Amino acid sequence: MSESTTPILTVRGVRRSFQAGERKLEVLHGVNLDLAAHGRLCLMGSSGAGKTTLLNIIGLLDRPDEGEVILQGQDAWSLPNSSRAGLRNRALGFVFQFYHLLPELDALENTTLPARLAGARGARLREYRSKAKSSLEAFGLGQRLHHRPGKLSGGEQQRVAIARALLMEPQLLIADEPTGNLDRATGDRVLDLLFEEQQKRGFALLLVTHDQRLAKRCEQIVHMEDGQIQADSTTPIPH
Ligand SMILES: Nc1ncnc2c1ncn2[C@@H]1O[C@H](COP(=O)(O)OP(=O)(O)O)[C@@H](O)[C@H]1O
Ligand SMILES: [Mg+2]
Repeated sequence: MSESTTPILTVRGVRRSFQAGERKLEVLHGVNLDLAAHGRLCLMGSSGAGKTTLLNIIGLLDRPDEGEVILQGQDAWSLPNSSRAGLRNRALGFVFQFYHLLPELDALENTTLPARLAGARGARLREYRSKAKSSLEAFGLGQRLHHRPGKLSGGEQQRVAIARALLMEPQLLIADEPTGNLDRATGDRVLDLLFEEQQKRGFALLLVTHDQRLAKRCEQIVHMEDGQIQADSTTPIPH
């Protein structure tokens, strides 16, 4: 298997339901998905289709009722909790619609946080801090390093969130409607940044978006409705 077709992510038969009062609401009805290392996949579908639920399961934040998530060849949900947490910290990065920056930390501290959480101290932490600073500077935030999120625009906050997500060099970046809260011009700049970094660093990108134009920038477009991948929606990965 050539490197470009080695899967970073394989999802098989994932089901998830939630208890809604008396009723059990099945949100995912057996989802299958493949994403190659270094690939780009756009997941589209109307609100309520189950996209975020699926991303939380792939992101190892929410356990499926059934099915498998194979990340870097490991059946992630069958691992012990501590190994799964380790895999999540090493392999995955997240970007959310509402940024999820910590309000009491400045841009540089927010970006450096994953290294702190991974236990980096002393010289290693300083290395990460300098890496975070370079990243923020490259993202046009050199004058914003010590601003807290409340003093940053939406686009700036999302660029900080992207720098944070990339700090530990994840192999898979999961982005759930990263421009959903931004005006179009700002959103376009954030996406340009995301795709540029993807080209440069080669992480695989799993992106949820409503923006049809983005589809062109992904090798795979997957449509999801009512908790199922539409049968004819997966475009083949070009070799
Ligand atoms: N924790 C939960 N408890 C109950 N229902 C949930 C929960 N999370 C999601 N849902 C329901 O699952 C469906 C899919 O939600 P979601 O995955 O957020 O959709 P999308 O991201 O595609 O808009 C919705 O009907 C939502 O209300
Ligand atoms: Mg969602």
